[in-house]
This record gives sequence, structure tokens and C-alpha cells, in this order.
Amino acid sequence: MKKTVICPGSFDPVTLGHLDVITRAAKMFDKVYVAVLVNSSKSPCFSIEERMELLGDAVNGLENVEIVSFEGLLAEYCREHEVNAIVKGLRAVSDFEYEFQMAIANKRLNPELETIFLTADSDSMYLSSSMVREIGSMGGDISNFVPACVHDRIVGKLTKK
Ligand code: PNS
Repeated sequence: MKKTVICPGSFDPVTLGHLDVITRAAKMFDKVYVAVLVNSSKSPCFSIEERMELLGDAVNGLENVEIVSFEGLLAEYCREHEVNAIVKGLRAVSDFEYEFQMAIANKRLNPELETIFLTADSDSMYLSSSMVREIGSMGGDISNFVPACVHDRIVGKLTKK
């Protein structure tokens, strides 16, 4: 049976940590949806369209990866699109409670849906989109944090007054 997974997130903006998880998922599964979603507890800096475009360029060359976005519940999208599992990266214990809560809620909404956690690469343990936004907007060097092909566009947006 074809194994389809989804990597959901805000991706505001994509980081090398996100790209690492997506690349590893693409090696493990037949099809990977990367879903740029609304997190109702966050106010995004990049628009959904900008985030999708940056991600599309970052995953260029990964044939089995598709960037999507939708409104509504992740668990419902997975049911409708025959997605077997959610794949998320775990950086530290501090991620765990939030991710665990979402995994349980998604399982309640769609009992067929598993959540799989990939351990963050040691280089990405400390990395987050919010850190990229803060450092980038203050003129700091974010070249070790974001994919090289989208670096200039991210810096351009973050430093635009
Ligand atoms: O990168 P984030 O902000 O931690 O990702 C959170 C996200 C976007 C995956 C989560 O908020 C989500 O799944 N939103 C879609 C709506 C939904 O299904 N909410 C219930 C989640 S239990």
C-alpha cells in the first residue's frame, strides 16, 4: 500500500530544520504533503502564498513532495486525502507537551491517523522560525538557519520597513 504522510506547520518562514524533516520524510514514504496552515494562536509575518513559494523552492528536486494549504482541520484533510500519518520534528522536551496534545487531538478527530515524530538533527535543535524572524529583522546573519536558495528573499522581507 502506498504510504502518504503530511508535514504540517506554520513555516513562517521555512528553516533548515523544517527542510531536514521534510527531506527525511521524503526518503521514508511514497508521498509527502507539506501543509502550510493557519495556527490560530500566531500572527504570521509571511503570507500563506509567500510561505508556500519559499517552501516550494526549498524542496525543489524532491519529486514526491507537494506543497499544499487549506483551511480547516488537519485531521479532516488527512481523511479526505488518504493521508496515513502526520510527520513532525521534535527538537527538545519543550516541544513535547504541545506536540503530544496535538497528536492526541488529531487521533481523536481521526482514529486512523498516526503522528510520527522525527528527532531533530543536532544542527537544528535550537532552530525556530521565530528565532529566524528576530535575528533577521535585526540585521543578523541567518545564512546558517534557512535554505540558501530562499535566504535573500527572507532577509528582504524581514528587513523591509
Ligand atoms: O508550526 P506550528 O505553528 O507549530 O504548526 C501548528 C499547526 C499549523 C500544525 C496546527 O495549528 C494545525 O494543525 N492547524 C490546522 C487546524 C487544526 O487542525 N487544528 C487542530 C490541531 S490539534
